[in-house]
Amino acid sequence: MDDLRHRWLAEVAEAADEAALERVRLAALGKKGEIALRMRELGAMDPAERMRVAPALNALRDELASALAARRAALRDAALEERLRGEWLDLSLPARPRRAGTIHPVSQVTEEIVLIFAAMGFAVAEGPQVEDDWHNFDALNIAPEHPARQEHDTFYMARAPGDDRPPHVLRTHTSPVQIRAMQERGAPLRVIAPGRVFRADYDQTHSPMFHQVEGLAIDRDTTMAQLKWTLEEFLRAFFGLDRLDLRFRASHFPFTEPSAEVDVRCSWEGGTLRLGEGDDWLEVLGSGMVHPRVLAAAGLDPEAWQGFAFGMGIDRLAMLKYGIPDLRAFFDSDLRWLRHYGFGALEVPSLAAGL
Ligand code: DAH
Repeated sequence: MDDLRHRWLAEVAEAADEAALERVRLAALGKKGEIALRMRELGAMDPAERMRVAPALNALRDELASALAARRAALRDAALEERLRGEWLDLSLPARPRRAGTIHPVSQVTEEIVLIFAAMGFAVAEGPQVEDDWHNFDALNIAPEHPARQEHDTFYMARAPGDDRPPHVLRTHTSPVQIRAMQERGAPLRVIAPGRVFRADYDQTHSPMFHQVEGLAIDRDTTMAQLKWTLEEFLRAFFGLDRLDLRFRASHFPFTEPSAEVDVRCSWEGGTLRLGEGDDWLEVLGSGMVHPRVLAAAGLDPEAWQGFAFGMGIDRLAMLKYGIPDLRAFFDSDLRWLRHYGFGALEVPSLAAGL
């Protein structure tokens, strides 16, 4: 009995993993295991011998069973320890500082613009980049034969052969979001709509994809004076200049009447552009009073509501503010350019800190 006990306890202690331990259990306590076989032999013994052997065998079986359970628990603990050691991470280590990414100037400038207009009560609106030609043109009072359709160098989406509905377009400006915002939110309304726009054009100041921000304010008595104040306020805050003369130059857009292009005072002395001083003028945006036909197309009564709108190029504003010469480089994904012109993740624009 002693020999049996020592042998099996040693086997349990030496089992290196749970599978080995299970093999030991079967060989000792399983139906055909050694202890079970010994139990079976009890029947052939004389009563006195059986009285001596049976309790000892039972005790041995119980002892082995608890030794197996204890060993199994120990093996599991060790396996868990091992795994925890392998998966250990030091969360206090610095996060790859030399490979930190940067915020793209377009993202940064978009944030700045949104911030300034948000402080004036404008909400952000969005629309699809693949737009139907009604929202992109017709609803904005640009009829099918209107020359503006050619001027916009529109990208047309393909239709299935035999489908002769007008094709969808990649929106050529953010102005269709005016229509969607009026349809969805009604009036009164104050929104800006930053986003991507597309035109088939490519040179130092044109890229087939670029960014615009649209502005729209609708109320019962919105005026051109309010438009001027809003744009002055915006451009001064954006460029960080207390004084910034603006010139509202009469112009034409199909969706506004009257329309004005807005120039800022600047100088080009020594080949560098300085805003806010000098005798030159630089065009920065288009604007005007929303055309009654545009209000009507979007479901508003032009007798009851009037509004102003404006649109400007975000990339262009970024170039002017941060002295970036070539628009095409914005979208080359050149890491050297991104490191040079990009902004730190923590340089979050805020009105209080100045832009
Ligand atoms: N959508 C015009 C463009 O892409 C810009 C524009 C001009 C927008 C005047 C306006 C506006 O809202 O009133 O050239």
